[in-house]
Amino acid sequence: MKITIVGAGAVGASCAEYIAIKNFASEVVLVDIKEGFAEGKAMDLMQTATLNGFDTKIVGTTGDYSKTAGSDIVVITSGIPRKPGMTREELIGINAGIVNSVTSSLIEFSPNTIVIVVSNPMDTMTYLVHKATKLPKNRIIGMGGALDSARFKYRLSEALDCPSSDVDGMVIGGHSDTGMIPLTRLAVRNGVPVNQFLNSEQLEKVSAETMVGGATLTKLLGTSAWYAPGAAVSVLAQSIACDQKKLVPCSALLEGEYGQNDICLGVPCIIGRNGIEQIIDVKLNDAEKELFVKSAAGVRAMNDDLKNVL
Ligand code: 2OP
Repeated sequence: MKITIVGAGAVGASCAEYIAIKNFASEVVLVDIKEGFAEGKAMDLMQTATLNGFDTKIVGTTGDYSKTAGSDIVVITSGIPRKPGMTREELIGINAGIVNSVTSSLIEFSPNTIVIVVSNPMDTMTYLVHKATKLPKNRIIGMGGALDSARFKYRLSEALDCPSSDVDGMVIGGHSDTGMIPLTRLAVRNGVPVNQFLNSEQLEKVSAETMVGGATLTKLLGTSAWYAPGAAVSVLAQSIACDQKKLVPCSALLEGEYGQNDICLGVPCIIGRNGIEQIIDVKLNDAEKELFVKSAAGVRAMNDDLKNVL
């Protein structure tokens, strides 16, 4: 299993680190445009191999895509991250051009690859990869829901004052401060609905904090987060590599599912060797359906801005 990660910044390096530590890939190629940067990150990570006990070979390259040839999975993290006070949507002007050109270089050398999109605005960048490559829809996965669901579970375990492993739940909809839909109604603590422990005010607080999870970290760190995004990518990559068929919320191209067409949006997906193997149709109540329609409208407005790129 060969995995390429484009962008050797904090997010890309964190993806490489978690993938290597989990030891399921034979090779990870890190690509960056900054001279020597990916090579340096790869060497530093390789010097942790004996300490962390992994056999994955990590190599870096400054923009030589021939080194990525034959990748089974490619991860696109390129582009600028947001600064405090910025929304993910404000990045579209710069990131759309970068993601478009990176994607065409990747597909030239790995036409059969599965693409995981991390760059923001993530749902729109996932849609851009669909439009630019025309790859089968199962082979293009937007990472957002995996990350947002992890942040939701973190906030739930905090509110419940219980171990994270007790908690399960997911976030669907767009990967944006206003588009995320934390499904509190379906969240459980070891099978018991969380609304038996938390009142509606507490659940609303959990949802609100989940939705601004990325913004909160951007304010604290001065740039966007990397550990949880990297870990989320590693879960998706492992589910593909080991054909685990995990159910993970991801941004997928919708063709009628959830009443939407021609849009990439976060929905629960089964992730296996073929990428998105199934979209799971969760029965939403009327309020959740309304939020999903609103979330789709926000992403669709953003997708319209791609007209200058495609
Ligand atoms: C985040 O929410 C990077 O969009 C990513 O942290």
